[in-house]
Amino acid sequence: MAQALLEALNLEVHYGGISAVKGISFVVEQGEMVCLIGANGAGKTSTLKALARMLPCRGEIHYGAERIDALPSHALISRGLALVPEGRGVFARLSVAENLAMGAYHRTSDRAGTADIGKDMDRIYGLLPRLAERREQLAGTLSGGEQQMLAIGRALMGRPKLLLLDEPSMGLAPIVVQKVFEVIRSVAADGVTILLVEQNARLALETCARGYVMESGKITLADSAAALLADPRVRAAYLGE
Ligand SMILES: Nc1ncnc2c1ncn2[C@@H]1O[C@H](COP(=O)(O)OP(=O)(O)OP(=O)(O)O)[C@@H](O)[C@H]1O
Ligand SMILES: [Mg+2]
Repeated sequence: MAQALLEALNLEVHYGGISAVKGISFVVEQGEMVCLIGANGAGKTSTLKALARMLPCRGEIHYGAERIDALPSHALISRGLALVPEGRGVFARLSVAENLAMGAYHRTSDRAGTADIGKDMDRIYGLLPRLAERREQLAGTLSGGEQQMLAIGRALMGRPKLLLLDEPSMGLAPIVVQKVFEVIRSVAADGVTILLVEQNARLALETCARGYVMESGKITLADSAAALLADPRVRAAYLGE
């Protein structure tokens, strides 16, 4: 029996009087790759930000054996929960190497942690060779695809157990999207659990084992990716058929 790494129960996010996430419940098992798909404004980013404790929320969030909905966001990084935000959020005026080092910032308080940072950086340069060639380049001058790779690399520097990815395909040419998704698949193959938010529903469902469909702040469908790909409602609303 698989074990839940993340579980949200009746999660709600409100912006003043606007209700963006209206009491959703879902689970991500250890080692799974799960996607959350939905149209613009469905509440996907709000959900990920609530999980990463970057927004106040109601309801419960369980991570491993712990309830985390009252924890501050910085407390989650050391527990292995990392968000790669929509729009990437790289530090434009820092180099590639400096951006990666920021991802391990929470480990710099002890010497053993600091010593490992160089090794982790080498591992990430191995996974993302385009970054290795550009380690001194300012992040703001990277291409969109390279910035997405850097945002993922920076999150991996925190040695995550659970990676929350918000629209990694956004604004990228199809060939670049394929490269980014190859990286995501290899991260998953390394044992990192992934919750992927995507507007590109076909790509998300072809990549993940299971998915949730979100509409106007609610989860309306939850099934295996294969079943969702075959579902006429999904095909009509999200797969352009
Ligand atoms: N800071 C904010 N203040 C007020 N309303 C907000 C704020 N952020 C998001 N919203 C609203 O919450 C709803 C959900 O937004 P959210 O960004 O979570 O959607 P999304 O599913 O990620 O959409 P997209 O696919 O366009 O990224 C939208 O109606 C949006 O206008
Ligand atoms: Mg969004």
